[in-house]
Amino acid sequence: MSEKAKLTLGDKTIELPVFEGTEGEKAIDITKLRAETGYVTIDSGYMNTGACTSNITFLDGEKGILKYRGYGIEELAEKSTFTEVSSLVINGKLPSSDELKTFEQRIANHSSIPTALQTMIKAFPNNAHPMGVLSSNLAALSAFYPDLLAQDLTGPQKDEVIIQLMGQIKVLATYAHRHSQGQGFIQSDKTLDYCSDFIHMMTGKAVDKEVAKALDILLILHVDHEQNCSTSTVRMVGSSKANPFATVSAGVDALWGPLHGGANQAVLEMLEEIHKEGIGYKEFLTRVKDKNSSSRLMGFGHRVYKNFDPRAKIIKVACDSVLAKLGVKDPLLDIARGLEEVALQDPYFVERKLYPNVDFYSGIIYRALGIPTNMFTVMFALGRLPGWMAQWKEMLETPGFKICRPRQIYTGEVNKKLSR
Ligand code: ACO
Repeated sequence: MSEKAKLTLGDKTIELPVFEGTEGEKAIDITKLRAETGYVTIDSGYMNTGACTSNITFLDGEKGILKYRGYGIEELAEKSTFTEVSSLVINGKLPSSDELKTFEQRIANHSSIPTALQTMIKAFPNNAHPMGVLSSNLAALSAFYPDLLAQDLTGPQKDEVIIQLMGQIKVLATYAHRHSQGQGFIQSDKTLDYCSDFIHMMTGKAVDKEVAKALDILLILHVDHEQNCSTSTVRMVGSSKANPFATVSAGVDALWGPLHGGANQAVLEMLEEIHKEGIGYKEFLTRVKDKNSSSRLMGFGHRVYKNFDPRAKIIKVACDSVLAKLGVKDPLLDIARGLEEVALQDPYFVERKLYPNVDFYSGIIYRALGIPTNMFTVMFALGRLPGWMAQWKEMLETPGFKICRPRQIYTGEVNKKLSR
């Protein structure tokens, strides 16, 4: 692009190239800034930093647009499946029906874990949080597949480990849940689709088609979300050429926090608290607006979406329809609706452009599907895995990619001496 940015520092002016993405986003390329001026940029929380270029996901926070590989999230949620979207995101194009069948079959063939790992899951206390169990066991998988620890995995090795992880995360997630309930493990049924198999392994019961479909939509909506906290963690860890199991385990840990994927569990706990205390919406909002309190309206606000979160819109509609189809009446849904309505009229939330995010209604659907609250963030991880792996693969296959290593500006003590 011929456009240049000019930067004047003292009596020196330099020109910086401007880079434009395919959806018209513009960025100033500062790669040579330090070499030419001695300055670095500072951008705490990466509010304004493009850490990479990527062909996977486009997101426009002002307009509420989210697309995977150019396809709108609304169309994918309506017409596609989780495995098809996973293949799209990972491989860059929609699979043919034969390719999709093979993709699904390969995942099904990887839907088991070594016996020693089953023993390891059983060694965790029953009240261990399933995210902790998932993260530990993902890292532990590295011990069982030494061939996949090479610094430079070949293309087919990368593809294989991605498929393997898609199968094995399903097993680890369901086994973590079964163990927390003091129940035995249930083997995968290769004849079932991904979401039906997941429910079968969680419950051991016949799978309701509506439940499997609802889960499929939720997972599609979680597949990728460009450079968020967990995805950037996956890129950061993977950039040292750490093995894929350790890399994805780190992604799970980053996701767990309540400001990120852990918000879905926190939302449900918040709604339960409001229900139990019988507190009015306005009174509750006064609490979360108080700058002296550390509580926030969980499931509200987003770093990037400033008008609405398109995923939240789809989930809200799905929530009504799933609960109606399953004949579930949940008082927490009424509380969520009431809270949303009052918050959206409150100047505090309006001025700060705080809207419901993907996590606000997802927990109510998971609850209706019979998934316990402490599994909500695990569900997020299950959905996000293909996005993490697509980003990992894209990064490793970008010619000349570099280890992630930000700078800082030191603000501590200078020239101290020991008084000995
Ligand atoms: N409740 C109350 N106040 C809020 C909330 C909230 N949920 N979110 C933001 N604010 C306020 C902040 O206090 C701040 O107010 P101030 O300007 O008076 O200091 C202002 O809005 C801006 O907030 P930041 O924290 O600076 O915004 P940031 O972009 O860093 O954070 C985040 C985004 C973390 C999502 C935030 O909105 C939040 O904590 N939300 C609740 C947790 C949540 O739902 N997380 C899930 C996000 S979606 C996902 O990761 C899958």
